[in-house]
Amino acid sequence: MIEHFDVVIIGAGASGLFCAFNTALYGKSVLVLDHANKAGKKILMSGGGRCNFINTHVESDHFVGQNTHFVKSALSRYTSEDFIKLVESHGIAYHNKGQGELFCDESSKDILAMLLTECDNAGVSIRLNTHINTITPNCHHLADNQGFHLVVTPKQGLAYQVHCRYLIVATGGLSIPTLGATGFGYQIATQFGHKIVPTAPSLVPFTFTDEVGKMAKLLSGISLDVVAFNDKASFSLPMLFTHRGLSGPAMLQLSNYWQAGEPIYINLLPNIDATKLLLSTKNTRPKQLIRTVFAPYFPKKLLTAIQAQFWHSLAETELANIKDKKLVQIGECLNAWKIKPAGTEGYRVAEVTLGGVNTADVSGKSMQSRLCQNLYFIGEVLDVTGHLGGFNFAWAWASGYVCAESIGMR
Ligand code: FDA
Repeated sequence: MIEHFDVVIIGAGASGLFCAFNTALYGKSVLVLDHANKAGKKILMSGGGRCNFINTHVESDHFVGQNTHFVKSALSRYTSEDFIKLVESHGIAYHNKGQGELFCDESSKDILAMLLTECDNAGVSIRLNTHINTITPNCHHLADNQGFHLVVTPKQGLAYQVHCRYLIVATGGLSIPTLGATGFGYQIATQFGHKIVPTAPSLVPFTFTDEVGKMAKLLSGISLDVVAFNDKASFSLPMLFTHRGLSGPAMLQLSNYWQAGEPIYINLLPNIDATKLLLSTKNTRPKQLIRTVFAPYFPKKLLTAIQAQFWHSLAETELANIKDKKLVQIGECLNAWKIKPAGTEGYRVAEVTLGGVNTADVSGKSMQSRLCQNLYFIGEVLDVTGHLGGFNFAWAWASGYVCAESIGMR
């Protein structure tokens, strides 16, 4: 026996669930398949358990990927206001954390419950614990595709067949395999001739194997406001020393713009020209030590570590006896500390995955494949990565919405 659905969505995560009920609202029969034992695991983990479900300022420059214009159409057609209205219609209390990041007052569970209620109301079927064995297009030529034939096996039960006219791949990225992440979406994309932009863990802390690593371990738990930058991006946010390296929002954001082997720069005194301060203090208070100049700006433990890093041999030397050239060098280090991460903490802890299905072969208006009719890709499986701050969910909702609209209108 073969079961028939208008639409099969692979992945019961943020984009899959959102797309599912929006498609079903057009009167389509929708089946969502997921190999995990629970839907929306990443939603539950998100925002430290409070789900940063959207940002009020969603613009295309909050996204990285080979084609940054790709996101524009979807983001303009499903906006933050649209999602906020949905959240409010479910009576979910939320707050703005400051920069437009909206979090649930209570729990991420509220957002997942909202999505599952909408799916339930729209008559979506969700089957978890289901392994997808094979996917075959139901046609002789991909351009004439009349649908897809899937063979699936439930964890407890026998394999069965499903036919659908539209197939939506919503399998997410590779981050946090223990939450169900796999590369299956890339495998499906490749099967249908799509190219994959090389993937890397992102929104992830940096690790160090050099002196910086030792320093970070020593300072583990200390946080300070910095500007973290490289030649592609700059973020003025807190940085956190950890026993493995450097984390905090500044580092996570910069990881979206970092490639293995590249250096990064940290301005440890974002509001102060450290060179100017040293040279002027040398004039006005020549007997001062460098650490006394910077004492007001750093916790004591951090100041001691910075001293060991930047002016160890001059620790007890008065400013008057230090050459201007050396003071300029120290000042520059404080305002643009150049460090080279050994790597990142990897997919085990990364919030997202850089790279993915190349958007050159996907329509930005509908998320439909340009290579195979009726095949769609939504959410993080695509080469679209958002900044920290609710942008990745913004993409999951918007891409899911335009996909649903495109199928619904047909
Ligand atoms: P998502 O990962 O949500 O769903 C993919 C689904 O596909 C999963 O249910 C998975 O089990 C399923 N799947 C995978 N392989 C399969 C296979 N072989 N067979 C069947 N099913 C398969 N973003 C944000 O905007 N605000 C935030 O607060 C956070 N916080 C956050 C915290 C943590 C710890 C993480 C890991 C991530 C975040 N994110 C976030 C990112 C956000 O969770 C992510 O971008 C979206 O969930 C992506 O939605 P998708 O639907 O694309 O994938």
